[in-house]
Amino acid sequence: MSDRLIFFDTTLRDGEQVPGCQLNTIEKIEVARQLEQLGVDVIEAGFPASSPGDFNSVVEISKAVTWPVICALTRAVESDIDAAAEALKYAKYKRIHTGIGTSEEHIRYKFNSTREQILERAVAAVRYAAKKKVDEIEFYAEDAGRTDNEYLARVTEAVIKAGATIINIPDTTGYCLPDEYGAKIKYLMEHVDALSSGKAILSTHCHNDLGMATANTMSGILNGARQVEVTINGVGERAGNTSLEEIAMILKCHHATIPVDFNINTTRICSTSRLVSSLMNMPVQPNKAIVGRNAFAHSSGIHQDGVLKNTQTYEIMDPKDVGLDENNIVMTARSGRAALKHRLSILGIEKDGEALDRIYEAFLKLADKKKELNDDDILMLAGADTAATKHVRLDGLQVTTGKGVTPIAAIKLSVAGESFEAASTGNGPLDASIKALKQIIRRDMTLKEMTIQAISKGSDDVCKVHMQVENGGHLYYGFGSDTDIVTASVEAYIDCINKFKKK
Ligand code: KIV
Ligand code: ZN
Repeated sequence: MSDRLIFFDTTLRDGEQVPGCQLNTIEKIEVARQLEQLGVDVIEAGFPASSPGDFNSVVEISKAVTWPVICALTRAVESDIDAAAEALKYAKYKRIHTGIGTSEEHIRYKFNSTREQILERAVAAVRYAAKKKVDEIEFYAEDAGRTDNEYLARVTEAVIKAGATIINIPDTTGYCLPDEYGAKIKYLMEHVDALSSGKAILSTHCHNDLGMATANTMSGILNGARQVEVTINGVGERAGNTSLEEIAMILKCHHATIPVDFNINTTRICSTSRLVSSLMNMPVQPNKAIVGRNAFAHSSGIHQDGVLKNTQTYEIMDPKDVGLDENNIVMTARSGRAALKHRLSILGIEKDGEALDRIYEAFLKLADKKKELNDDDILMLAGADTAATKHVRLDGLQVTTGKGVTPIAAIKLSVAGESFEAASTGNGPLDASIKALKQIIRRDMTLKEMTIQAISKGSDDVCKVHMQVENGGHLYYGFGSDTDIVTASVEAYIDCINKFKKK
């Protein structure tokens, strides 16, 4: 049995389908290029039949990267498979990932069907995909975690005969215990000849609903799975997927006892994590294993004393192995464009030409207000860099507020290149600003939820605002950042407006 483990990254499919984490095509290409440098073997680039945007992203990612296999997801539906094959046209190595639910819950309630009919549909989908002349076909048995093992083995055998060479065993609901998931993989390895002979391999795909995604994935590897489906920072549906960085570092730390080889360049982990977090506007929890802000920070006196004497007292990993850059250089208004480009590159973001000019301009403006900028500020500026091309843009905002005065706001917007101004009072500075904005943008919209977060510390800090606005029965997620709390909030509101469906 091969000792090579394939890393299949689904940040751009399972991760990206999370509300608020959506990326545009340019951002997806940026993440895909970073994943290529990180050394992932397979990039699941999207679900082409789900929307024209997803279709286009798979096409563009296929053109942008060279080494990884590009994978497109489908249901066991011919038109989905047609769309996937078409979207993969430019990929150097193409994989179709098709499948269907196999648990009793899915068979009965989702499909109102029977085991035999589902087996037939699974085989028919793989046979249809095989006609598309892609390099590889992967089959997923959705909710395999709750599927009876004997039936799962029958499905596995049948789809391998039909042409699949990678069989994905998703714990879709994150329900399995590590022993139970490992036993499932072992059962399949022992009962399906094509798996024990190495003609096909098993893949893990574990969700984290009960916090067991990493443990289940490890149990899968120990029992014979040779592909892992993972995401950066563990982003994904509900509580997320298994995180790539955790599996890669477990295998690196335990190589002596789990001797599987893999292609991940772990020194790129931190920059990839930061890139994904900033583009998705999805903060990484400070105590997250491997990539959290505190993952290598020793705060107690006893630990600090031990680490100063010898790092091995409390550190099982070298921070450099995950690309942690210890000298978090502070940038100021005196730092040049080249220094900014270099810092961005260390953070995993490659910018040139006009895009770099725009970020540098925003950098200088922020440095004037804040004096010293850290990596989080720079990532925030890079993440906000698409503002110049937006349909609605905030060109000016003046607010008078305070105790004992009626808040009043004057706003200046550019809408499709045309300039508009309005003013209003309100019960607070944000209320006044949004009422003024609504005099210009006359859409039926309601602010549903917002969170305000400081980037680091200090009263001169930049604040980040995440917001949900309802329009036409849909919820839209927006993000804004500024040293001014009201400006950041209005920017987030405008970000939502720019995402409204065109009427
Ligand atoms: O969790 C899951 O079952 C999935 C499949 C579509 C692969 O994401
Ligand atoms: Zn999933």
